[in-house]
Amino acid sequence: MVATNELVPASGSVRISLISPTLDRRRFLCAAGGALAAVVTAGRAGAATPAAPAAAAGTLRLGGDLEVARLGFGAMRLTGEGIWGEPRDPVECRAVLRRALELGVGFIDTADAYGPHVSERLIAEALHPYADGLVIATKGGLVRRAPGDWTANGRPEYLRAACEGSLRRLRVERIDLYQLHSVDRTLPYEESIGELARLQREGKIRHIGVSNVDPVLLAKARGEATIVSVQNRYNAADRSSEAVLATCERDGIAFLPWAPLGTSAPPVGEPHPSQAVLAQVAKERGLTMPAAALAWLLTRSPAILPIPGTSRLQHLEENVRAARLRLTAAEMGRIG
Ligand SMILES: NC(=O)c1ccc[n+]([C@@H]2O[C@H](COP(=O)([O-])OP(=O)(O)OC[C@H]3O[C@@H](n4cnc5c(N)ncnc54)[C@H](OP(=O)(O)O)[C@@H]3O)[C@@H](O)[C@H]2O)c1
Repeated sequence: MVATNELVPASGSVRISLISPTLDRRRFLCAAGGALAAVVTAGRAGAATPAAPAAAAGTLRLGGDLEVARLGFGAMRLTGEGIWGEPRDPVECRAVLRRALELGVGFIDTADAYGPHVSERLIAEALHPYADGLVIATKGGLVRRAPGDWTANGRPEYLRAACEGSLRRLRVERIDLYQLHSVDRTLPYEESIGELARLQREGKIRHIGVSNVDPVLLAKARGEATIVSVQNRYNAADRSSEAVLATCERDGIAFLPWAPLGTSAPPVGEPHPSQAVLAQVAKERGLTMPAAALAWLLTRSPAILPIPGTSRLQHLEENVRAARLRLTAAEMGRIG
């Protein structure tokens, strides 16, 4: 495993540090229409015309060795109402997953809690055997007892069983990115992360990420293990994770904003007053609000890898098309 994880903007667009990609990576790049390969080449040569839409977002290197387009897919919506049970249209959901790959998406976020188990199972049904280089990130640490009910359990024995369940459902021997989904306040955070570090040493986890953390928790986690990603709620209206994002930018940790479109969950605290300005910018540029929200995130920081989620092909196409969008400095300034 490469120890460093530098984020290096280049050529005026978002670019993450590149060392030679592995052969596996190259095979995936070909599977994605060669588009990511174009970006990789562009990183070295300074020019590119990427073919697959997601590649236009640039790339990000997770944990120093997993290079993915900087626009991913969140698979939480491939479930029923209340993120519970089977989705409205499982056939369309499987088609969404396959289409995401065709569009150059190389990073899929899921969790054992989505369904529970439904999202992970659908991913395996639709995509296994996986294209080389596809990164599937899952999470453990939340128990589901009913629709809408989410209870944290970060006890080591629970996390071990959860990780082993995800390995089985996803049909992999090692999970590329395993994220601690939540914070169990009944035990020290370090104990939960410590178990993930043990699973990593045993080869069941490649990289460790955290979710729903503040700067103090992130620092505690980093005292126990190498943390390569943070997944927190973040969008133009919800800036409660600015301090965490700043740490991620500084230290080369990927920041995966959930609720990236800004519509699925109310902001923590007072909404940032920017939402109205973002709507105005969207109108001026002829963009939909989801596209403008993603453009804002992609412009906001090279550490950000948005993971918009949908169960609909039409919305997937729209979201991935946003990979090519950036806002100008003047527009970013107005939004604040
Ligand atoms: N770590 C955590 O605690 C946590 C919490 C929540 C989510 N997540 C992750 O983050 C991902 C994204 O979060 P999210 O699903 O809450 O937020 P989101 O991606 O911002 O929004 C998803 C919602 O927007 C709709 N949508 C998507 N694209 C659209 C478009 N182009 N036009 C109109 N509507 C659109 C979807 O409905 P349709 O299906 O009808 O398109 C869905 O209801 C999840 O999939 C999950 O992987 C993590």
